[in-house]
Formats: sequence, C-alpha cells, structure tokens
Amino acid sequence: MFRMTFNTEKPAVTPLHDLPDLVDDWPTDDWKYADVHFVYPRTNDLVRKVIDATPITGRFKRVLIDVKVQDLEPKICSCLPGWHLDGAPPHPDREPDHHHLFVMNGPLTEFIAEPVVCETDLSFSKQDFANILRQIPRDVKVMTIAPNAVNTFTSYDFHRGVYATAPCRRLLIRLTETNTVLANNKPRRPSRGARKEVGMITDKTLIDWGFEPGEWFGVAIAEANNALKAGMDHCDIYELVKGMEPPPVEELPYRPEALPFA
Ligand SMILES: [Fe+2]
Repeated sequence: MFRMTFNTEKPAVTPLHDLPDLVDDWPTDDWKYADVHFVYPRTNDLVRKVIDATPITGRFKRVLIDVKVQDLEPKICSCLPGWHLDGAPPHPDREPDHHHLFVMNGPLTEFIAEPVVCETDLSFSKQDFANILRQIPRDVKVMTIAPNAVNTFTSYDFHRGVYATAPCRRLLIRLTETNTVLANNKPRRPSRGARKEVGMITDKTLIDWGFEPGEWFGVAIAEANNALKAGMDHCDIYELVKGMEPPPVEELPYRPEALPFA
C-alpha cells in the first residue's frame, strides 16, 4: 500500500473582472473534453473571456474544455454529490492533470480544505476508491470555490457538487490540462440553457450537433424546422432528431480466414 496526500493545496483563484452580462448570451452548445482550440471560435464571448484568463501551465499535451449550462431546481445536484477526483487517476510517477474551474450563477463546488493522507493500492479500482473515501475524516475542513473566477486544482484534489437551493441556470466551464484524456470535439447537445434563436435548421446545424450526414437528413431537417416553427425548444428538437437517427451500421468482425463453402 502507498500513502498518498490529497488536497495538498487549496485551489488557486484567478479572478475575472468585467464579465459580460449573461442575460441573453448563454453558450448554445455544451462540450465535454473538447479541444479548446476547436471550441474557441464556436462559443460565445463569455466562454472566450474565461479561456483567455485561465492560467494554462503549458506543460501538458492537450488543453480540453467542458462547457455545461444547467437549469437546476432545488434538490438537483450540480455534479457528483460525493467526494470525487476529476481526470485521470493519480499516480506518483505522473504529473496530475490540471483543472481550471469557473462557475457562475449557481451552486459552488466544495473542496476539502486541508491535506488528507490516505492509503491506496494505486489501482483506483472501485474497492480501492471506497477504501480511500473511508479514510477521509468526517469532520474534514470544507471550502467552496470562488464564484466568477477560475479555480485551479489537480486530479489529487477531492471535491463534490452542491445541491441547488433555488431554481437557477448555472454555467460551468472547466479547462483540463492533460496528457492522458483524449479530445472529443462533438457538442454534447444543445445546451439546456440555450435560448438563442436559430433561423432555420440546416445540414450544418445537425452536423454541429454531432450527427452523421446521410439520406435521413432531408426528412429530419424538415421535421426539425416544423417543430421550430411550432415553438419547440432546441433541446427538444435535438431529442426529436436523435430519435430519427438511423441505427449504426453493424460492422462485421474481421475474419482472418475465408469461410469454407457450404
Ligand atoms: Fe468533479
């Protein structure tokens, strides 16, 4: 067993000043581990401002970004409610992923606010993780991240989501510096908070939403535009299109030898 220290330091805070007014400018797409260079021209000024202000170390192969807009209600947790770690599992021989978290207009993520030493077998299997969690003292010091600021932490820092106490639309932006996590440059779906007008839904809209073009696009686009005219929300239109997407073509396994004639 190894002894590993978690939450050695509190998250470092980079404040942001003069943030744009959010009223009408929520990002229209959510992203999960997308390449920051890919997202930059495809998102809004607020997200770009956060990206520009983020203290990137430059020591990692990739900088990935998550953007998440959530309409939260009381009793809905903003993210995983229990203590957890983000990114690749820690390892003493590997520099931990660096994360830069920005939260606006909603529950603020909580962090353990003092160093915690736990024994681990370094597998970070379910069992090992449960064993680590049992070693965190019940009365461990807890802090919340700074709002409207970039909070920098690593994959060694336990944190947890917080339940909303009132309805709110929360924006989360997280940049991850990593050598291990790969980029996924498809929008997750139109953001739950997206309310920007889309004039017409076209091939490009569906491709931007992550759908593969095909013959089915014609009917799907017509249906999507009918729904749009009827006042349907983006998120529901996305689900409508998703329901029309043909199933993936089944790939036959490669056979190293020819089949015998019957
Ligand atoms: Fe997390």
